[in-house]
Amino acid sequence: YMRHSLIVAGNWKMNMTVREGMEFLEKLGPVDGKVMIFPPYTTLAVLAGEFRRRGITYGPQNFHYKDSGAYTGEISLPMIRELGCDCLLVGHSERRSYYNETDEEIHKKIQAALSENFSVMLCIGENLDERKSGQWKKVLRKQLLEDLEGLSRDKIPYIQIAYEPIWAIGTGVSASTEEITETHRYLKTVFQELTGSDIPLLYGGSVNEKNAAEIGSCPGVDGFLIGGASLKPDKFRKIIEISK
Ligand code: G3P
Repeated sequence: YMRHSLIVAGNWKMNMTVREGMEFLEKLGPVDGKVMIFPPYTTLAVLAGEFRRRGITYGPQNFHYKDSGAYTGEISLPMIRELGCDCLLVGHSERRSYYNETDEEIHKKIQAALSENFSVMLCIGENLDERKSGQWKKVLRKQLLEDLEGLSRDKIPYIQIAYEPIWAIGTGVSASTEEITETHRYLKTVFQELTGSDIPLLYGGSVNEKNAAEIGSCPGVDGFLIGGASLKPDKFRKIIEISK
């Protein structure tokens, strides 16, 4: 089974000052392949040119769906546009659970981003109870349908999905290759039903330089969304090498 090259995306979460981000890029050295990084806003703004120069796609971890206004603490799409970002992360489980982001809000964000011709990487995932009780299919399907409701055909190329089982995020133990294969097959089928198209589908949750080759060879895995291991240049580089 020959696979295509994989997308390697790093979600830095609330890590990496500008200085640390610069050191990271210097240690990482030149990269090729489909590499993306989602830094925190401040680092994103200062290092945008550095990412661009290195051929790394970059974007924010969150954004507001309104263009401007009295929304203290928020960042808008025109502000993000100014930094030359191509792709926006949306719907991460940490935002859903710590900041009560709903599917309705995520849907608004996706609509706003797509209407401005940004690409989005939508994160979905079930919790441990939902996995154990067999509810995961229902939960993931609901997230997909609600978050992407009304998606028009011409916007499909702007969408990537990251499947991140909440119980595998930051635990050091990824989902098994069987679970990943079964879930990705399911999600690809749902998306196909919904739109008649295939979709780039990334896996996230404790991906590291040791398990990336095995996870990346699961059918239906088109890349990785990486947290912890994306903060270490040597680990991130190894995963990029594996993914070529
Ligand atoms: O968005 C990526 C993330 O949630 C996965 O984190 O640390 O398990 O790779 P980690």
